[in-house]
Order: sequence, then structure tokens, then C-alpha cells
Amino acid sequence: LAGSAEIGAEIQRLKEEQDAILLVHNYQPDEIQDIADITGDSLELSRAAATREEGVIVFCGVDFMAETAAILSPEKTVLLPAEDACCPMAQMISAPELRLAKERHPDAAVVCYVNTSAEVKAESNICCTSSNAVKVVNSVKEDEIIFVPDRNLGRYAQRFTKKKVMPWEGFCIVHDRITPSQVMAARKAHPDAVLLVHPECRPEVIDLADHVASTSGIIREVAASKKKEFIIGTEIGILYRLKKECPDKACFPLDEKGICRNMKKTDLKKVRDALLTLQPRVTVPDDVAARARGAIERMLALP
Ligand code: 13P
Ligand code: SF4
Repeated sequence: LAGSAEIGAEIQRLKEEQDAILLVHNYQPDEIQDIADITGDSLELSRAAATREEGVIVFCGVDFMAETAAILSPEKTVLLPAEDACCPMAQMISAPELRLAKERHPDAAVVCYVNTSAEVKAESNICCTSSNAVKVVNSVKEDEIIFVPDRNLGRYAQRFTKKKVMPWEGFCIVHDRITPSQVMAARKAHPDAVLLVHPECRPEVIDLADHVASTSGIIREVAASKKKEFIIGTEIGILYRLKKECPDKACFPLDEKGICRNMKKTDLKKVRDALLTLQPRVTVPDDVAARARGAIERMLALP
């Protein structure tokens, strides 16, 4: 532990030297959340990447998040300390596959979840995150929407729109494994608890929830609630932030094995080394970035 305190101090010093900011997703390991400048959900972190002044962004998350930051701020140095941290769901669609779908549905708009590659964003009309998917779907003028890649988020958005949402068949391996029988068991164990789930969960799980929200939305809901007990249906990294920010509330995981291995690849040494060497750096080719930027900026421009 003495070692981690020293590395933590080194990170603080290097951050100032390099004019860097540490953006940390809500699923990151506890010790990474502890050194964050901003901890947040995908939308909050994209906004921070777009607006903050620092010249170096250290993205503690997975690759598509760092790519999004690089697209929004091509003049900045964007670092992904865990070079191989990827999102399996984002890999469930490629740009050529999306181009084929667009040929099949020439009148449809493409809404892409931020959990996609830069190439897929470049083929999309507008991007969304879990906190604004419904608003984004309703903002496009087309009546038909190709929604990629998360089938569960697409089906969730369909509940709140008259438009025809055609979801891709992708899914998050962490959320899609949660079943209604796990919900029943958790409800039985904690009969007074409020059940909050992420919209990447299956429809049959969403049907049983009291609230559906992004990771930061779940944290806000717990903080604002008068209730004392909560069952949390998302990746378990969020429990650390809940414990820190809502110490008077009891939060139980809906799926205690709900761990995103890729989100856990960041550690203090990798963050320190990234700040020392300004590597591994994430860049996006100019032509791809130019087309993908439009999709992200249209999302950020929504009120
Ligand atoms: P949010 O933090 O935007 O809810 O995203 C969840 C997620 O799975 C990110 O990979
Ligand atoms: Fe991807 Fe799911 Fe991990 Fe988020 S939690 S990075 S959606 S695999």
C-alpha cells in the first residue's frame, strides 16, 4: 500500500508537469477512481473531453471512450493507459456491416451508441449514450432508425418513441447475462430495496426495475432518494462510488459477478507510465475523425 501511495503522489506531480487531466469511468477500479479529476458516465466524460483546457487527457476507461476524446479534441494528446482495454460490444459491428444495413434501409437514420469504433461513428447520423438514447432517437427527422450496436438499449429506446427502431444484434456481455430469476432472488433478499438497472440489461429485466438509468443516473437517483436500500443492476465498479458518495445508503449488486474485465485493466502503474512517456496514445485518422465528429457533436448540441 505504501507503494500505491507513492505512485499516487508521483501521478499528481506528473499530472501538473504534463498539464494533464484524468477522466475516469464509473466502472474503473477503486484506486483509479480515487485519483480521478472527473469520475463519470460516458456522456459526462465526453463533455469533459470536449470542454476542458488541459493539453493531455488520460482516459481511464476503454478504447472507444479515448477515441471519442481524440475525435473531439484532435489537438490534444489522448492517452489510454490500458492499451488493450476494449469493449466487446463495440466490436459486434464494423463499418462495412453498417454500410450494408444502410443500403438495405436507405431512408433510415443511423443512431450509434457511443460504444462503437470511430469508423462506425463516421457512418452514423448521430451518436448517443445510455443517458440520452431516447432523446437522440426522438431528435432525428427520419421515422426509421438503424440503432447500433446494443439491441437492449435500442429496444429500451423503442418504448419511448413512435419511430421504428431497428436494433442491431449486439449486446454487453456484463449486462445481458442478468436474468429475471436473479431479480427475483435479490428482491426476496432485500424486499424493501429499490431496483435500479442500466438500459443495457435485457427487456425482461428492465420490465422488473423501479428505475432505468445510466451509471451516473443511478448514482444521482440513489443520492436523491429517501429510501435506504438499493439493488444495483450494472457493473459492480459503480458500488465504490455509491459507497463514497452515499455512505448512509446500502447498495447491493444485482449480479455480484457482473465485472467488465476490460474496465479493470487500468492500474496505478499504467497511469503513471502513461504520464511519464505520453504513451499509449490514441489517435484517429483525420478523414475518419472528421466524419465521426459530426455524429458526436450533434449529440452534444442537444439541450
Ligand atoms: P454509462 O456510464 O454511460 O452508463 O455507460 C455504461 C457502459 O457500459 C460504458 O461502457
Ligand atoms: Fe463494453 Fe459492457 Fe464493458 Fe461497458 S461494461 S465497456 S458496454 S463490455
